[in-house]
Amino acid sequence: MDNAGSDGRRFDEPSHADGVGGEAVIEPLAAFRERAVTSDRGVYERFEADWPECWEAAADLLDWERPYETILNDDDPPFYEWFAGGELNAAANCVDRHLDDRRNQLAIRWFGKRGERRSYTYLDLYREVNALAAGLRELGVEEDDVVTLYMPMIPELPVAMLACARIGAPHNVVFAGLSAEALSTRLDAADSEYLITCDGYYRREDAFNQKSKADNARLRMDGDLDATVVVDRLGDALDVPLGEDEHEYESLVDAHDGETVEPVARDATDLLFVMYTSGTTGRPKGVEHATGGYLAHVSWTTRNVLDVRPNDTYWCAADIGWITGHSYGVYGPLSVGTTTVLYEGSPDYPDRDRVWDLIERNAVSVFYTSPTAIRSFMKWGAEYPERHDLSSIRLLGTVGESITPKAWRWYREHVGGGEAPVVDTWWQTETGAIALATLPGVTPMKPGKVGPPLPGIDARVVDEDGERADPGTPGYLTIASPWPGMLRGLREGDERYLREYWVDAEDGWRYRTGDGAAVDEDGYVTILGRVDDVINVRARRFNTAELEASIVGTDGVTEAAVVGDDGGRIVAYVTTRGDVDPGADLRTTIADRVAQSVGDLARPDRIVFTPELPKTRSGKIMRRLLGDIARGEEFGDVSALRNPEVVGEIESAVRKE
Ligand code: PRX
Repeated sequence: MDNAGSDGRRFDEPSHADGVGGEAVIEPLAAFRERAVTSDRGVYERFEADWPECWEAAADLLDWERPYETILNDDDPPFYEWFAGGELNAAANCVDRHLDDRRNQLAIRWFGKRGERRSYTYLDLYREVNALAAGLRELGVEEDDVVTLYMPMIPELPVAMLACARIGAPHNVVFAGLSAEALSTRLDAADSEYLITCDGYYRREDAFNQKSKADNARLRMDGDLDATVVVDRLGDALDVPLGEDEHEYESLVDAHDGETVEPVARDATDLLFVMYTSGTTGRPKGVEHATGGYLAHVSWTTRNVLDVRPNDTYWCAADIGWITGHSYGVYGPLSVGTTTVLYEGSPDYPDRDRVWDLIERNAVSVFYTSPTAIRSFMKWGAEYPERHDLSSIRLLGTVGESITPKAWRWYREHVGGGEAPVVDTWWQTETGAIALATLPGVTPMKPGKVGPPLPGIDARVVDEDGERADPGTPGYLTIASPWPGMLRGLREGDERYLREYWVDAEDGWRYRTGDGAAVDEDGYVTILGRVDDVINVRARRFNTAELEASIVGTDGVTEAAVVGDDGGRIVAYVTTRGDVDPGADLRTTIADRVAQSVGDLARPDRIVFTPELPKTRSGKIMRRLLGDIARGEEFGDVSALRNPEVVGEIESAVRKE
């Protein structure tokens, strides 16, 4: 059985592994436990004894238009259906149902890059979502039409997601920093004929034209757009002329102000959204999430893992352009009915106090960010958080990559006042919601380890044969039973869904996460990194083949291999034609090309020219070895390579950089 990635590549031991046993175990403080959403230690056993019925607890958090008939339909594995027969509307669950109890409570507090502020109560949100939903209908959007959203972190983005959900039109959010090429690929792949974007946004001091990227994308598309809606983010700073089938967001919403649109009752299994992510081939894959299971799982984990309640002020710093922002920046907090902070800027602009200032001024009680951000905070120094009153913080979360015990402790000490639980959450675009994490009111924490699977989630670390790996032995992280937030499929079809994720084992279907992991005696999981051709840097996921294809498209470049290093940087090893000068100019050309074809955030941080890439005898590039070299790590015997002599040259080229 192939539990490994597509090329069977393995993982490395993390340099920060504490080893099995003997590490710090931190119990939840009594003061936290007493007030926690879940403090009942029996929850693990109960969920196990009563699976899958246990997940009714999640479905019960939602308002259903029609009750579901089955909790889990597993007649045709691995095409599972959660809460089949049930009908609900995600926008009604995130907005309408809060009107009775908290119509004047803030739903969204927005902070713009230029120091602007805007707030939406639940009633404001209700009005604007309805007006936009009516506007979209007027433009011709019908149930099941995919609407693509290409905006930075402005309130119109969650409003648009909810307006789409209200009328049963799945959204397809494309991260604003992605290129025109990436947008056009995603528009075509999703068969999307509607786009909501904005004129532009600020990057530090500069106004940046987003609409021109959208125009470019349209020119590149195989299909065409029926209508485009453009948010005026920059006012006079940028004058963007609109074409015939292009509409101003403001005018559209104004024209429908005060109208209400009946939320469309969607089947639990109907598509809520599609989100493109890197897979094991160069082409991104469209992960589809169903309405009922996704929302139930997201809502349950927002409450039970992040401990969020309506009277919190909660801040998930992730961009809505990625899954974390979808699940825990929009659907999770709004389904719970809390106040969520939306921040457009960067953490160090205008200064390195920005994040701490926002936490202080909003009395943020739950803060969720990535190890990449925490690493930057550490580098900038504890003096920044220390000069702010962060006593409102009750819980801290982290997601996206492994956090070292050192960074975990720093985060707890300097942001969490030494007392807040730090919940390291493991999940993926495909899992939809958190799958492994400690329950902060129940489970002891071990810095640097994610923790056990959540109750009701059958995640296991297995060996090559699918047997549970011994404690401390690296293996593959798999999930052996379905879970509510799971993807319902891929836009590219069943065959690719099966191929990308599923193993038909003797004892049932296994979902392959693509991550290497080790488990300790207590069942705590340490994530060891990807085992396939995906790299995680800057809390984003990139497919190496996609980046390499872009680099190889540069004139004069013959081959490329991309790896991530331990500082969250993208390192590209590149070979060139003999008549080409591998110098600074070529470096710039390559980096610009990647930024152009994939997006600015994929720009390689280091480009190392080398006469050859190290290859196996069968001609496979040894990316793992290149990763070790980039990280300055020891590597084993290379004599089995086809060209072992090149390794020394590469090492000295890396050191020279
Ligand atoms: O490798 C794991 C890593 O991020 C991957 C999923 O990336 P994406 O779909 O972009 O979603 C990111 C946010 C949910 C995983 O396969 N990852 C995620 N969380 C952790 C992690 N690695 C280590 N520790 C985590 N807590």
